[in-house]
Amino acid sequence: MPAADTSTTALRALSALAIEIAQKAGELLMDRPENLGATTKTSPTDTVTIMDKRSEKLIIESILAARPHDGFLGEEGAERESKSGVRWIVDPLDGTTNYLYDLPGWCVSIGVQAQDDSGEWSTVVGAVYSPTTARLYSAIRGEGALLNGRSIQCNDPVILSQALLATGFGYESARRVRQGEVLASLAGEVRDIRRMGAAALDLCHVASGGVDAFFERGLAPWDHVAGALIAREAGAVVSDLYGGPESSLFTFAAGPALAGLLLPRLESLAADR
Ligand code: IPD
Ligand code: CA
Ligand code: CA
Repeated sequence: MPAADTSTTALRALSALAIEIAQKAGELLMDRPENLGATTKTSPTDTVTIMDKRSEKLIIESILAARPHDGFLGEEGAERESKSGVRWIVDPLDGTTNYLYDLPGWCVSIGVQAQDDSGEWSTVVGAVYSPTTARLYSAIRGEGALLNGRSIQCNDPVILSQALLATGFGYESARRVRQGEVLASLAGEVRDIRRMGAAALDLCHVASGGVDAFFERGLAPWDHVAGALIAREAGAVVSDLYGGPESSLFTFAAGPALAGLLLPRLESLAADR
């Protein structure tokens, strides 16, 4: 497979397309039917609605229409190998529980990755759209992060006792108990803790200064790929628990000063177990 074209022009075109598709999917989701046709997936509380599926269908059809040789991976089952060196990582509705309860904290998250000559994939474009709050977060690798077209920066420096943390819980109950234990240990050491319900938006909130840090164990690629680029481009340290690349095991984001304080504390709490 050829390496992807990662020229400025090519990445800007990819970003424009990702934004256009995320907005289209967001508008579709705003038209919320009375009957969401909710069923469960990995646990009795892991819900999928007909709207998650409709959104993914619209996103994948839009990608295929514009770029028929790209690959993709979507939460609701869409998967295809790339023939172009470009692939799309899609969460058609991040924050499904909020959507189910008609709360505002949900979004469409689209990340685009490119393959280099050595076959390595890296994220080059991210678009996260929250239609209920009219917020579009976006980033192109090397060009900074934007909220509704304006440049954003994470909060830095922040000390631990002043930090507003965001986190999330997985759908498996044993894991939640463990995640709760980590939070109980941290609660007295920080300003406060938020559990807002959409990991992609949590990462974007780090980017825009809406929270000081985010961490979660057990995210899937579609939860973190786009938001991680946006947070990084806004100046945040984005990593796993040990300073390596963020992963499904552990995703962390914070400004550099707070990262230096919070990562060792999370490591001491074995927050990835
Ligand atoms: C979930 C949300 C939530 C996070 C979970 C994710 P979904 O995604 O991002 O905030 O804590 O780990 O699975 O199921 O709403 O797309
Ligand atoms: Ca998700
Ligand atoms: Ca989802």
